[in-house]
Amino acid sequence: MGFIADSLNRIQPSATIAVSTKARQLKAQGRDIVSLSAGEPDFDTPQNIKDAAKRALDEGKTKYTDVDGIPELKAAIVAKFKRDNGLDYKPSQVSVGTGGKQVLYNALLATLNPGDEVVIPAPCWVSYADIVLLGGGKPVFAETTIENGYKLTAEALDKAITAKTKWFIFNSPSNPTGTAYSAADLKVITDVLVRHPHVWVLTDDMYEHLLYDGLEFATPAQVEPKLYERTLTMNGLSKAYCMTGWRLGYAAGPEVLINAMRKLQSQSTSNPSSIVQWAGVEALNGPQDFIAAHNKIFVERRDLVVSMLNQAKGIQCPKPQGAFYVYPSIKAAIGKTSKGGTVIKSDEDFVTALLEEEGVAVVHGAAFEGSPSFRVSYAASTESLKDACTRIQRFCGNLS
Ligand SMILES: Cc1ncc(COP(=O)(O)O)c(C=O)c1O
Repeated sequence: MGFIADSLNRIQPSATIAVSTKARQLKAQGRDIVSLSAGEPDFDTPQNIKDAAKRALDEGKTKYTDVDGIPELKAAIVAKFKRDNGLDYKPSQVSVGTGGKQVLYNALLATLNPGDEVVIPAPCWVSYADIVLLGGGKPVFAETTIENGYKLTAEALDKAITAKTKWFIFNSPSNPTGTAYSAADLKVITDVLVRHPHVWVLTDDMYEHLLYDGLEFATPAQVEPKLYERTLTMNGLSKAYCMTGWRLGYAAGPEVLINAMRKLQSQSTSNPSSIVQWAGVEALNGPQDFIAAHNKIFVERRDLVVSMLNQAKGIQCPKPQGAFYVYPSIKAAIGKTSKGGTVIKSDEDFVTALLEEEGVAVVHGAAFEGSPSFRVSYAASTESLKDACTRIQRFCGNLS
């Protein structure tokens, strides 16, 4: 009998964390590495949010709190959903956890039974499938294509849904593709979901505020009110508020689900850090203008990266409208050999050789169930983006 639980053998360590860790190690060894692998803004947390945390400390707000969030934070979240999404929730419908990842984990672990299926459009964020597997469920990937801008079609969704489908996970703007759905795009999807009343919707709106070119954000329960009773609308502070290390995420949905999530959290982490929760109140209620200022910079960087990558031999890079990722295809590079002698049979070979030969860290598409591609995070300085794209161009130019 093995010491480590069988359930753990079903999952993989996070590939994005693995690449970022390797890049850090190589840097520590003195190698010249540009890392575009991390999914976090390079901007610092706004000062008013930091000050709120300091105030909370000084005021002794350092004790256990309600398991799934202090009333002040729940009130701020209720107001946020009303203000930004036109959604009405009561505080009893809100759950706060230690990062969006824990909120997702709670929702899935609290509801999945063996054999339950979860439909996930692919390419997708690395953790969805592993959390589903840990919960004993079965991920079912609904494929999207580069030709369709990585947007899910009604046909692909309909085909993926079976009598065993418990959840459909939706993520716009998307990690890893940056694809963002307009309300009209999303209606195509919600129309299918309305026809399958046994399927619950888990929408991961983590990148809500990182939207460009005037596109307006849309979320399933807003686009199709008929889905409100079976939708968990999840969001977090990590990306738009530059708070990845603080660990704060939240969701709102039907009480039956929120209560189950609270029960699970009460036997794992209990409340998210009390200090961070007070910072979260300030983040949601305080000034929001820094978001537009950041987005202006993200757009410039996106345009730079898309243009430079499309000039690299064998790379096709769409221009997405959200998040801070681009997801170029390397289809034309498969079968070629790098200058260092690596035969590129997969996107993993491509990113490994790129890291070894040119010192650029990006994440292979297989980690996101979308090959042959790789993900570039452009949440990095313009200077390092130029440097990295020049190296990628050189690497591709040397493929033969
Ligand atoms: C799509 C998506 N959802 C959820 C998360 C988790 O965010 P958090 O840092 O709040 O746990 C991430 C973080 O990378 C993400 O990209």
